[in-house]
Parts: sequence; structure tokens; C-alpha cells
Amino acid sequence: MTEKKGLKDAYSLKTPEDSVNLYKTWASTYDDDFAKQNDYRSPIEIAKFFAQYSNDEDTPILDVGAGTGLIGECLNLNSKEIDAIDISPEMLNIARTKNCYSEIIEADLTKRLLINDNHYGAIVSAGTFTHGHVGPNVLDELLRVASPGALFVFTVHFKLFNKAGFDKKLLEIKKNITQPTFHEVDVYGSNPDKEHGSDQVIITVFRKK
Ligand SMILES: C[S@@+](CC[C@H](N)C(=O)[O-])C[C@H]1O[C@@H](n2cnc3c(N)ncnc32)[C@H](O)[C@@H]1O
Repeated sequence: MTEKKGLKDAYSLKTPEDSVNLYKTWASTYDDDFAKQNDYRSPIEIAKFFAQYSNDEDTPILDVGAGTGLIGECLNLNSKEIDAIDISPEMLNIARTKNCYSEIIEADLTKRLLINDNHYGAIVSAGTFTHGHVGPNVLDELLRVASPGALFVFTVHFKLFNKAGFDKKLLEIKKNITQPTFHEVDVYGSNPDKEHGSDQVIITVFRKK
């Protein structure tokens, strides 16, 4: 029997290959033993902020580090189209079963993406800009594939915002984006984990100019 996976494993990742290996064994139980059991709220919070800030033009949407597709399930898509991008084929296989994604893209976000310039009307993401996953430089490539005016709504783990240089990155790309707004939310409704149960994320919202 494989040992139960959790936040400790996720936060100690170092490379994209580590992510592939961890999520390979975690994918089939992630929705139940992580998301449900810990009342993981980031995807629903992203959906709420997306609903608040978006308009009819913000389509198609790219779900960055989509994992098992929890954001896709939470978003009220109306006529909008959403694609999932992730490095883990096993996580994406679960996302596929949710029947809300138009395209499922297996790719490493730290590399150049095989997506045309100015393609997406919105970029959403939960739980991906976090310990051991991807850092602020990924925003350059996401800005490239986003169309002018595209809405960005994504979580950044609160402990990493300054430490990993998201603050500096936002200053560096200042000319290309509208003034960001920041919203601190709890990651979990009820999570007994002593070390991470009261973690927060900073939901960052802006538009590409
Ligand atoms: C904690 S999960 C979050 C999944 C989903 N967004 C959610 O909120 O449940 C992080 C996801 O980031 C993906 N990931 C990590 N590093 C990546 C990379 N370099 N490129 C693409 N995806 C990556 C993992 O495969 C995993 O599915």
C-alpha cells in the first residue's frame, strides 16, 4: 500500500520532476483525502473572485496547474470555455472526468508553452504558486499567452509572496498590467494540520494591459 500523500510531501518538492512523481501517486485520492477532508477552499475562492471581476469577454480561460480540475468544477462558466494545463498526466486524467474542460494540456509551466501569443481571455490558478511548485517567473509566459485585457485571478501562498519574489515580479511587469488587488483568504475551512491548517493565500487580481 502506498503511504498517504499530503501537504508535507507537496511543500518539499524541488523540481518539476518531483511534482510529476508526487502527483502520480496522489491523483486518485487527492479530491477525497486532501480537498474534501481538509475543506480545501482555494478553488471556490478563485471562482468567487473570478465571478466578481470577470465580464463576458474574459474567455477562453486557462486553469494553470489545474490538477484534478477543482476550479473547473467551481466556476460558473455560462458561455465561457476553460482549458486545463498541468505537468501531471494523472491529475489531468481526473480533471478530464469532470467534463468541464475543452482542452487538457500536459506541459511544464516553467518552460515555453506551445500556445500562441494573446490566446487566453483569462488566467486562473489555485494552489500552484506555492512551496516547491512554480515561482513568479511563470507569469512572463502567462502574460504572453494572455490577450490584451485578459483577467488574472490566482493564489500565491502567503509565506512566499515576498520570499519567492512575487512582490518584485509584479513591480517588474507593472507597465504591462493594471494595478493588482490582493485578497487574503484562508486555504482551509477546517484542517487540523498543526503546521499548515491555518495557512492563507493571497488572491492576486489584475488585467493585462
Ligand atoms: C496543489 S495542486 C493544485 C491543483 C488544483 N489547482 C487545485 O487547486 O486543487 C498543484 C498542481 O500544480 C501542478 N504543477 C506543479 N509544478 C508544475 C509545473 N512545473 N508545470 C505545470 N504544473 C505543475 C501539479 O502537477 C499539481 O497538479
